Amino acid sequence: MKNAVVTGGGSGIGQAIAARLRADGYHVATIDLKPSDDEYAHAADVTDRAAVDAALNAIRAQLGPITVLVNAAGMDCFKRFTDVTFEQWQKVVDVNLNGVFHCIQAVLPDMLEAGWGRIVNISSSSTHSGAPYMSPYVAAKSAVNGLTKTLALEYGPAGITVNAVPPGFIDTPMLRAAAEKGYLGDIEKTIEATPVRRMGKPEDIAAACAFLVSEEAGYITGQILGVNGGRNT
Ligand SMILES: NC(=O)c1ccc[n+]([C@@H]2O[C@H](COP(=O)([O-])OP(=O)(O)OC[C@H]3O[C@@H](n4cnc5c(N)ncnc54)[C@H](O)[C@@H]3O)[C@@H](O)[C@H]2O)c1
Repeated sequence: MKNAVVTGGGSGIGQAIAARLRADGYHVATIDLKPSDDEYAHAADVTDRAAVDAALNAIRAQLGPITVLVNAAGMDCFKRFTDVTFEQWQKVVDVNLNGVFHCIQAVLPDMLEAGWGRIVNISSSSTHSGAPYMSPYVAAKSAVNGLTKTLALEYGPAGITVNAVPPGFIDTPMLRAAAEKGYLGDIEKTIEATPVRRMGKPEDIAAACAFLVSEEAGYITGQILGVNGGRNT
């Protein structure tokens, strides 16, 4: 049985990905600031390399080598560019980009040893078109897409695929919190403007991840697979 780690597995999209992979027969461990009650839930901040290493070592001790990694931990930020302080910029880049760096770099040795691996990075549909008042977030998530393409080239020969899923308009606590603060406009109007006429569910993202980490997706790497109800093509 394969061992999978899902960051951000304590809420929303990451939680749905962890549940789906568990249902598909993987041993799943999660890493989150706020861990769930799951057996293999670990509390760690993905921006803290020592904490990430400690969590991964604990998971290795529990389950063995990790050959599937889904990076879903993330935070948003809504501010006019000129109002963004450098500290805020750094924080958003730290969580959304540097956290992905730490987790991939820390897990890769297991995949290289196994000669097989699957990495999926959850970026954002805002990388397709930009998003006003989200400059550090979109910059960081766009960098995640670029990192995905580059690592696919570096590690394809080692049997490791690296893909990104940029979600759009998924009903999660993050999106609801942004909506409550008035950052997303009228949700019903957005649904009307969405080709499939509904919000996305965390399970929609989990289904894409489940496919990308599967054996049969082995010829798919370096791809950015949008899951957004047709809002971005
Ligand atoms: N919901 C959407 O429509 C949407 C759209 C585009 C991208 N995304 C991305 O999808 C991912 C999941 O988002 P969600 O909507 O499920 O949000 P969410 O807030 O429900 O879940 C995010 C999880 O990440 C964890 N997290 C945040 N910072 C962390 C850190 N430093 N270390 C460890 N864990 C941390 C949080 O504790 C939380 O459990 C994020 O990367 C987000 O940017 C979501």
